[in-house]
Amino acid sequence: MDSLKIDGGVPLKGAISVSGAKNAALPLIAAGLVTDGTLQLRNVPDLVDTGSMEVLLRNHGMDVERTDDRLVIGGSATNFDAPYDLVRKMRASILVLGPLLARYGQARVSLPGGCAIGTRPVDLHIRAMQAFGAIVELADGYIQARAPGGLTGARVVFPMVSVGATENAMIAATLAKGTSELVNAAREPEISDLAECLIAMGARITGHGTDTVTIEGVDSLGGATHDVIPDRIEAGTFAIAAAITGGELTLKNARARHLDSLFEVLRRCGIIIDETDDGIRVAADGGIGSADITTDPFPGFPTDLQAQFMALMCLADGSSRISETVFENRFMHVPELMRMGADIQVDGGIAMVRGKPSLTPAPVMATDLRASVSLVLAALATEGTSEVSRIYHLDRGYSDLEAKLGQCGARMYRV
Ligand code: UD1
Repeated sequence: MDSLKIDGGVPLKGAISVSGAKNAALPLIAAGLVTDGTLQLRNVPDLVDTGSMEVLLRNHGMDVERTDDRLVIGGSATNFDAPYDLVRKMRASILVLGPLLARYGQARVSLPGGCAIGTRPVDLHIRAMQAFGAIVELADGYIQARAPGGLTGARVVFPMVSVGATENAMIAATLAKGTSELVNAAREPEISDLAECLIAMGARITGHGTDTVTIEGVDSLGGATHDVIPDRIEAGTFAIAAAITGGELTLKNARARHLDSLFEVLRRCGIIIDETDDGIRVAADGGIGSADITTDPFPGFPTDLQAQFMALMCLADGSSRISETVFENRFMHVPELMRMGADIQVDGGIAMVRGKPSLTPAPVMATDLRASVSLVLAALATEGTSEVSRIYHLDRGYSDLEAKLGQCGARMYRV
């Protein structure tokens, strides 16, 4: 199993190109199932997770071809089963449920297994499909769904905000008969990116980016070419890398309006952030102030940046209260950060972090994607050599991490 040796204490300086967004690319690849034409996606990041989604589509019988950052999806599905073996590797596999049902009237998708960051049920996805008239049964660990006469548009009121359920419902509604309204929909930039692509394919969607999305069903969808938005979580991670190492990084292609909540908090901590012609420049100006955060759906502070921000607060001048409201049990990085000397106390969904002038190098273990990168950040800020094990989690969401950070002065290598 690979691990990363990190020789920290070097302020990172330079420019990094932000890749296409993993969380935008995954539903976009799934949307390839609903077109009668060819969907061409550009700026698709080369990650373990996007690779898993490509494998899943091929498993359904689709033609999927990748050349560099371009993915061409065509053909039609002949197999409507998403087996456990593929789904357990990546929960986002559930995103094929809506497209398969809408386009082919049937889908059999394994229930995703337990997940490190909470129970993460898929009830909202299932309820949306039922609202559209699908008959859904749960048997043998599978969601078996049928809609022999096609789906019918409906008003779906989500009891809580779910990114994935909004995406599944939005894709399904594009081919349902009549009008659908998704109420309490997620407003993440990845939802808008998906809507824009579906519109380019001929879908009729309005209100994306707000909490009510309206979709008028059409008979069929055609091909399109679409550029995946830049990854705001990758960009936010690099912004924190600049801050935590006392360095200065320019994030090329990053979109500031996707990161308002992070940048507002970082500015409160004394970090300088400005937009330049080249991208967004993030620079540390002496010490790191402390700030409290609460994670929330967009436009709130992203749960996917909570672990990285906590690493920063471990080195802040003062105390910080970090409240996680999106996922239960998303503090798995805490014991690992504490192995490096961090002072953190957890009570339910709240972590109290008392900043220290420095941490100490230690061997630590990654537990999930964002937790693992928070350990990398802490190690980069710490003099001496730390080793982060189980870094396969990192490869699910960060492409070329060592190369990107290495060109800015980070000393890290895989062993
Ligand atoms: C997506 C992101 C993930 C991010 C999360 C929240 C992708 C591929 N992943 O995950 O990186 O951390 O949004 O921003 O885009 N829930 C239910 N029932 C459901 C669905 C969700 O109770 O049917 C709950 C979840 O357990 C969680 C909350 O809703 O507590 C939000 O989850 P959701 O927005 O659905 O996350 P994902 O789409 O899985």
